[in-house]
Amino acid sequence: MAASRLPETAQTGPHPRLGDVVARHLQSPWQRPVHGYSEPAFEQAGLALEPGRPIVLDAGCGNAVSTLRLATLFPDCTVLGIDRSAARLERTPPLPDNAHVVRAELGDFWRLAHGAGWRLDRHYLLYPNPWPKPAQLRRRWHAHPVWPHLLALGGKLELRTNFAVYAEEFALALAMAGHRGDVQVLSLLPEQALSPFEAKYARSGHDLYCVRACLG
Ligand SMILES: C[S@@+](CC[C@H](N)C(=O)[O-])C[C@H]1O[C@@H](n2cnc3c(N)ncnc32)[C@H](O)[C@@H]1O
Repeated sequence: MAASRLPETAQTGPHPRLGDVVARHLQSPWQRPVHGYSEPAFEQAGLALEPGRPIVLDAGCGNAVSTLRLATLFPDCTVLGIDRSAARLERTPPLPDNAHVVRAELGDFWRLAHGAGWRLDRHYLLYPNPWPKPAQLRRRWHAHPVWPHLLALGGKLELRTNFAVYAEEFALALAMAGHRGDVQVLSLLPEQALSPFEAKYARSGHDLYCVRACLG
């Protein structure tokens, strides 16, 4: 199998505009209306929840192999895998009763969940698209206007990435919102991987970074 390449970037550290961009998003609410198609998807996700049962969100779950693993790790929780790619979700493995996948756009989903008062127990962002070019800064979740909504969902937040700049910026953006995000370098064998991208990057010998924060 061909080795994966690391994200190619001209950035050697956090983007010089990161602080301004994150501060603006933290101060002013995102104005763009939610897409009409997102509301039924959000309602579908809501049907999987049970009162009092903790929620684990696998945001950008791809083919939901990680959703299955999380459901096994946390059998007392409802695990929701969300992804916008129908092609990826079609490859979802058989899931146990406590796991569900929904096709949805995360920028809308997080806003709707926040608006509906959801509180998460755990929240995973496993290998989000890195958007490594400096001009793509605002597409990274921590520099995206949805950032305050994502944080408002609370719980134990965990980002994993093979893009060191992403992890560093993510931790800085958490600090700007008053949270402590510790960056760790993960060392794991591909067979212990939580998701297919993690397995692929581990096989390719990449350094893998994890940022964890307790959002309360
Ligand atoms: C690099 S893949 C990682 C997949 C999986 N988490 C893993 O680690 O194997 C990123 C995933 O995020 C999804 N994604 C990217 N932007 C999204 C968005 N705005 N809304 C929903 N899903 C999104 C993509 O469809 C893709 O499946």
